[in-house]
Amino acid sequence: MTRQAYLHALGIDTWTLRGAPPAAAADAGDTGDAWASLCGQVAGCQQCGLHAGRTQTVFGVGNRAASWMVVGEAPGAEEDRRGEPFVGRAGKLLDSMLRAIDLSRETVFIANVLKCRPPANRDPKPEEVASCLPYLHRQIELIRPQVILAVGRIAAQNLLATDAPLGKLRGRVHSFGERATPLIVTYHPAYLLRAPLEKRKAWEDLQFARATVQTAAAAARAELGSR
Ligand code: URA
Repeated sequence: MTRQAYLHALGIDTWTLRGAPPAAAADAGDTGDAWASLCGQVAGCQQCGLHAGRTQTVFGVGNRAASWMVVGEAPGAEEDRRGEPFVGRAGKLLDSMLRAIDLSRETVFIANVLKCRPPANRDPKPEEVASCLPYLHRQIELIRPQVILAVGRIAAQNLLATDAPLGKLRGRVHSFGERATPLIVTYHPAYLLRAPLEKRKAWEDLQFARATVQTAAAAARAELGSR
């Protein structure tokens, strides 16, 4: 399928891409043990009540040296069954959104705030987030992405430790953690399935994230060149 066809499939026919996608991230280095340890901790986690209802934990998927990290809310029924984030209907839309900016679930890393499915897909409880968020923080620390795309209110509010509404968090570059990783907020694909007219705004967010990565990369190159 051509890029134009993807955009059309998203219901948007005027999106124009310029320039190449961001370069692949740097080598993950000697982090194999750290990943194995983290995977083991998540797989065996019983820190909150959600462990009792899970089929399996949903750790995350993709490139562990990714430039882009996409963070969602929590696994749904399909994700719980398959052990992979964003594999249901919302996941198909996320894949299309990524493809529209020349990315894929293999080139980015996708994870959720919660690694276990909340019953009936209810919102995560604060104590569940408190138990699980350190796993996501560790994933971010290991990946060292150039940008974090927080999809939806739950991901955005918990990563930024704010209760500001999503509409107020979109459209600017936030800073995450000690490395001041740029973080950009957009709509959750499940919301976009219910409100397709908002897809255009999501496209603006993706373009904004893309430009942010490119600006940061150019600044890093300039910095290297001046040494
Ligand atoms: N919604 C999310 O936020 N994450 C998933 O993995 C699936 C649906």
